[in-house]
Amino acid sequence: MTERRKKSEDLRSYKWFGVQDLRAFGHRSRLRQMGYDEGDWGKRPIIGIINTWSDINSCHAHLRERAQDVKRGILQSGGFPLEMPAISLAEPFQKPSTMLYRNLLAMETEELLRSYPIDGAVLLGGCDKTTPGLVMGAISMGIPFIFCPAGPMLRGNWRGEALGSGSDVWKYWDEKRAGKITEEQWEQMENGIARSFGTCMTMGTAVSMMSVAEALGLTLPNAALIPAADANHPRMMTHAGRRVVDMVWEDLTPDKIISAAAVDNAIMVHMALGGSTNVMIHLIAMARRAGIALSLERFDQISREVPVIANIRPSGKYLAEDFFYAGGLTALMKELGSKINGTPMTVNGRTMGENIAGAEVFNTDVIRSLKNPIYGEGGTAVLKGNLAPRGAIMKPSAAEARLRKHRGKAVVFRDYNHMAAEIDRDDLDVTADSVIVLQNAGPKGGPGMPEWGMLPIPRKLVKQGVRDMVRISDARMSGTSYGACILHVSPESFVGGPLALVKTGDEIEVDIEKRLLHLHVSDAELEKRRKAWKALPPRYERGYGRMYQEHIGQADDGCDFDFLEQGAPVPEPEIH
Ligand code: FES
Repeated sequence: MTERRKKSEDLRSYKWFGVQDLRAFGHRSRLRQMGYDEGDWGKRPIIGIINTWSDINSCHAHLRERAQDVKRGILQSGGFPLEMPAISLAEPFQKPSTMLYRNLLAMETEELLRSYPIDGAVLLGGCDKTTPGLVMGAISMGIPFIFCPAGPMLRGNWRGEALGSGSDVWKYWDEKRAGKITEEQWEQMENGIARSFGTCMTMGTAVSMMSVAEALGLTLPNAALIPAADANHPRMMTHAGRRVVDMVWEDLTPDKIISAAAVDNAIMVHMALGGSTNVMIHLIAMARRAGIALSLERFDQISREVPVIANIRPSGKYLAEDFFYAGGLTALMKELGSKINGTPMTVNGRTMGENIAGAEVFNTDVIRSLKNPIYGEGGTAVLKGNLAPRGAIMKPSAAEARLRKHRGKAVVFRDYNHMAAEIDRDDLDVTADSVIVLQNAGPKGGPGMPEWGMLPIPRKLVKQGVRDMVRISDARMSGTSYGACILHVSPESFVGGPLALVKTGDEIEVDIEKRLLHLHVSDAELEKRRKAWKALPPRYERGYGRMYQEHIGQADDGCDFDFLEQGAPVPEPEIH
């Protein structure tokens, strides 16, 4: 039996429906207009189901039905469900980048929950930017909520071989460019790589962020990676619906769940998974919304402590479906032993330690032990140097070992179109030891910091058998991508960061062990180039893009809007 800290009169929604005045008459009469009566709202908590379903979002195609499962649970527990659609950020389709719109989803989530009579929330989503967008908004609103992950799609299938989202596309695209895959085989792959609803099933941003949400305590135990097409998935949704009503009575708000220890747990999990580099941006933004000052340095400290033990592509061999059947996220956290802090509270009203106590690993090749990792250090390294004074990041586990310490000459492209036009020219002056540099692909320059960071290997080198090179940009990279790609260079080139000053032929040194990214150009020469550098005109003159451009932070700050980071509380709306 849940401990009730709240009475009906304490509910937010009571101000809309419980009082006897002209406004409440209007509110109640409009609910009656939809066929409801006091048996529906009565003295029940009203639960907003924020649904990011859309016809254009293949990763969320099942969420319209799943919302019904959540509603069933809410009704069973004595709540009143109201489904509310929010912007759907569909990674494959939305241009120039879903990242441009993450903060818009966060704003929409926060304002939907605040401006309507909502006492608690269930958040439905999972495709890349959706998890952080929903969670950031709900944290800022501060009412009890549960995040329900969309779950990964089933593993792909091609000629009896398991295919992974993204990772295998890049891999076989290079094989096709090298003339080793036929058009017909490429077409067969198109039919087999995405064969059910759900998110990408490699260790991309979606799987990483759904896992981070669970490690923070914001999902039910082991909910993160239930395959979307598995019957466990609708059951998880119903459980969440039942549970969130109790959370409202218990007043279990996000500030009682998200602590510095919970954030550390999330970083541990991210490193052990070999998670997407995007996690660093999103987790910094989420933590800061909760008032926790998280910086890149904390990721690097934990990276040196925690090996990659999840054997999932692109760093490993298997896919998310295999991971769930091997025991799932609770089993991975149990395997991390004392590295996980068991004290943080979670949405089910139990601590993280209690939730993972009984977890077991059923396949020790998929979820390895700390003594038998697939990579000895955490999945993401933070590099610094005169080329990235505020930091850059790299996923060493997904790069060829020879490139983890490297010095080579830069081949510089001033923007994406320049690169696309030149990269496959037969006369491009480039070797396997060159360092490819892309400028103007950051938060303001991209705009929206698109996932261009896995810069293509020049075709003439692909034909020679080259499959990895050092590549540097201020862009992001899909978590399903791989290679020696140095990303998130901060400050970005569009605002005059040192990346803007690199010229073709300059020598660049990368040393992962020393966490170094150094441009071998003298300070005097760099100063000369800085004085000659001219800013490009703003990308947007009006609309959301203009607001984005004026307020977006850099990657090491989580790319939140300056006016949305934690600050003065927003007042509750007046009801009149
Ligand atoms: Fe939606 Fe990858 S495209 S998760």
